[in-house]
Amino acid sequence: MSTQAPVVPVILAAGRGTRMCSDLPKVLQPLAEKPLLAHVLDTAAQITRCEPVVVLGHGADQVRAMLGAEFKTVSQEPQLGTGHALSCALPALEDETLIVVLYGDVPLVRPQTLLDLLAARPPGGLALLTVSVTDPTGYGRILRNDDGRVTGIVEERDADVTQRRINEVNTGIMAATRAQWLDWLERVDCNNAQGEYYLTDCVALAAADGVPIGVHRCHDQDETIGINDRIQLAAAEKILRSRRATELMRSGASLRDPEHIEIRGNVTVGRDVVIDTGVVLEGDVKLGDRARIGSHTLLKNVTIGQDTEVLSHCVIEQAELGDGCRVGPFARIRPGAQLGAHAHIGNFVEIKNTILGAGSKVNHLSYVGDATVGTKVNVGAGTITANYDGCNKHRTTIRDGASIGSNSVLVAPVVIGVDATIGAGSVVTHDAPDGKLTIARSRQTTIDGWQRPRKKED
Ligand code: UD1
Ligand code: CA
Repeated sequence: MSTQAPVVPVILAAGRGTRMCSDLPKVLQPLAEKPLLAHVLDTAAQITRCEPVVVLGHGADQVRAMLGAEFKTVSQEPQLGTGHALSCALPALEDETLIVVLYGDVPLVRPQTLLDLLAARPPGGLALLTVSVTDPTGYGRILRNDDGRVTGIVEERDADVTQRRINEVNTGIMAATRAQWLDWLERVDCNNAQGEYYLTDCVALAAADGVPIGVHRCHDQDETIGINDRIQLAAAEKILRSRRATELMRSGASLRDPEHIEIRGNVTVGRDVVIDTGVVLEGDVKLGDRARIGSHTLLKNVTIGQDTEVLSHCVIEQAELGDGCRVGPFARIRPGAQLGAHAHIGNFVEIKNTILGAGSKVNHLSYVGDATVGTKVNVGAGTITANYDGCNKHRTTIRDGASIGSNSVLVAPVVIGVDATIGAGSVVTHDAPDGKLTIARSRQTTIDGWQRPRKKED
């Protein structure tokens, strides 16, 4: 960096975002579950310790509510263009401050790119981040003279046919001192197609003054995409998805279909993890070595042990799965579930707020909620822990080695003893002793002489 001056990001976020056709201010539109502006703030925080200044205007109250009290904001009213927006922030800053202008609708720039930009700023000069794109439509074009030196920026709507063919465009991101911006912005006018005070006009003024302009060309056109409409928003979503998928693959996960995985939180993976198509990962997700996640499964705030396999179409939320478990397909594991090593949960099983011991199995069509289940327990098909009396929740305890016959209802609070067996179809309302067979249903009888009713013959 050419100067010791503090680097302060000024984030322009006052625009209406007309092209979104939305009631939500543009900078609050969600990208990967997070407002556009939050992405920019996160990036800003990674390049400087100085507090950013956010310029607000359209929907300021809504944006402020999202920001919370800790951010410094200034208001731009009315919104007369990006140059006007920056001038609204200047009174809040010291002369020597090096201002990096960021746009609230350019969310994918990497911190390193901004650091490279600052490094490209010549002493006493202006730093400009440009990018060459396949389709420059909508962006300001970078004008250079025969020597290749930048002479200015022309906005699309003010550009002639030749200028529109230029594919090096303005990312919107620039850096200069507050004193420099002040000098240029005082001279910017609004004689252009949009009748606005363009920030971009500062570049021509700097060039005419002989101020050195350091250009950093971003090599990745995906980084600097500006979000003006929902098509660009979807494109940004795709870019972010592919970035995150690439990170996961770099850290040891095989993705069967990298185009179709949603990573909305912080995911950490061990080695040789395999994730199938259509998987959604939200919040904090940790996958141990060799874990396998089947297609169309949702994991939210979940820790999964080594060698555990989750088959397709499962929904697992706020749960811990030990090593070597097998879950699904079609299982629902709800908050507070903890599965011990080698536990099995099969199809159409719901588990909630339950500790399931090592090697225990609930393989078919069951609801186990508010329960403490020991090790090596077998819960038969169709078992239900009736945990709710209409007013309070009660716990069910099933001790080590117990076997629950199919289609049983365990009415909590109730304790099933060690190695106890419950006969199929039981409705268990009292504790069942260790090591014995307990049956809680009426005995099968056969009625002699009983006749099935018949229709009367005419
Ligand atoms: C702007 C640039 C263009 C560049 C493109 C990059 C200008 C004149 N044009 O065009 O050269 O290629 O970004 O994405 O700067 N804003 C305010 N106050 C205003 C107007 C806008 O704060 O009065 C904010 C918006 O909220 C937005 C940002 O500035 O975050 C950019 O405004 P936008 O209208 O989207 O500019 P573009 O037409 O995309
Ligand atoms: Ca824009």
